[in-house]
Amino acid sequence: MAEPLQILWYIRHNDGPCPWVPEGTYPEDQNRINELARTIDELGFYGALVVGDSPFIEIASFIPITRRMRFLIPIYPGSYPPATLVMQAKMFDQLSSGRLLFNQVNGTDLILPQFGIDVPSDQRYALSAEYWSVFKQLYAGEIGAHEGKYFRFGPPPPRRANRSAARLVQDPHTPVWGTGSSPAGIEHAGKVLDAFLTYLHRPDRLGAQIASARAVAARHGRALRVGTLANIIVRETEEEAWTHAQWLLEQTGAERLARLVDERLGMGRYNKATGSREGGTFATVRSDDPKIQSRIDALRAGRLPDLRSLESHPNIWSGPNGPRFDILDLGWGAYLVGSAENVAARIRELQRDLGLDIFIFMGFPLIEEARNVARLLLPLLDLDQSPPVLAEERLFGEFTTLSGATQAAVAASA
Ligand SMILES: Cc1cc2nc3c(=O)[nH]c(=O)nc-3n(C[C@H](O)[C@H](O)[C@H](O)COP(=O)(O)O)c2cc1C
Repeated sequence: MAEPLQILWYIRHNDGPCPWVPEGTYPEDQNRINELARTIDELGFYGALVVGDSPFIEIASFIPITRRMRFLIPIYPGSYPPATLVMQAKMFDQLSSGRLLFNQVNGTDLILPQFGIDVPSDQRYALSAEYWSVFKQLYAGEIGAHEGKYFRFGPPPPRRANRSAARLVQDPHTPVWGTGSSPAGIEHAGKVLDAFLTYLHRPDRLGAQIASARAVAARHGRALRVGTLANIIVRETEEEAWTHAQWLLEQTGAERLARLVDERLGMGRYNKATGSREGGTFATVRSDDPKIQSRIDALRAGRLPDLRSLESHPNIWSGPNGPRFDILDLGWGAYLVGSAENVAARIRELQRDLGLDIFIFMGFPLIEEARNVARLLLPLLDLDQSPPVLAEERLFGEFTTLSGATQAAVAASA
């Protein structure tokens, strides 16, 4: 039997009918964001990916206005010292009854230095593997101190006798989901992550990426859940859905579409076509695939690519999706577009064929499209509505099975 699906929505401030163009963007409004959180909570989504300047602070403000949704927030490994992250995660889990999920992202060479993470590109995943393995052990009370290549800390002071009773936190730890599409990222996913998240892409290519991560996980004796992030347009009929997709292309316009491709190529992301981080520019990029080349040619000539030529698989469409437009079919993100029945059928196929059982969807405007998805699509799917698994907090030093060296370290710190 297939696992029930975990369907998440998206929370971000940049919203509107077409929020990658100024005319299609709403002004910032925290009331609208609060309304979005309440809507997601009430409509039966498993949770939401929350992005922005400081999502960890922001999601704390959603605890009292929501009851069951989970909050998936990006964390760049090293941006919080491991023990700080554990403390904050436990506090959030206690206050929210275990509704925190982490999305580990390694960003790019352009993003990480702002957090003081200045390791060479090829070492980012080694740092990340150490960070998350330490995080999990620390949260579960299995270690106190750590001395590794990238992180050193501890041991913690002993627990005070007058401290209140144990609190309820997630068992065994806040789940660590995450991304990584380069070979090093896939190796890291298989070794460390509880769930591997990808951008939606043609199932043949996506399947290959997932199979590689699963093979690494199997080598480490682990199982790996998988999920995908996609834009979504569901309507009662196919025609209505594709009409909206065409509207998005027109709102964006050929010139902006070309700019989105160009910017993405220059971002220092891993480029699957070249197998490196060297992207190139839209002016020079070429494809051996005549279908893709004809889209490039149209755009270079200042025309919109043909709507259905961007459909790489039935109901999977490479439309503009914020900072990305995957005209080159490189896996920068795609849409599910279609009638609710057809989109539900694609989701079930992706689950059956690729083992995907986490779907993070976004559609704009976020509240209206969340309502569309909840009304038309969610009733057709078997949804995971289970509550978080909680247990009494375990603190390092309370175990009787500590190694002699560790016990001595604890005693010395008392
Ligand atoms: C679900 C999902 C969420 C993501 N969120 C972020 C994010 O918050 N910040 C970011 O810099 N990149 C984000 N990314 C992009 C990833 O960092 C990028 O796809 C990839 O992991 C880069 O890894 P690489 O260095 O292995 O190519 C996200 C990707 C996915 C699939």
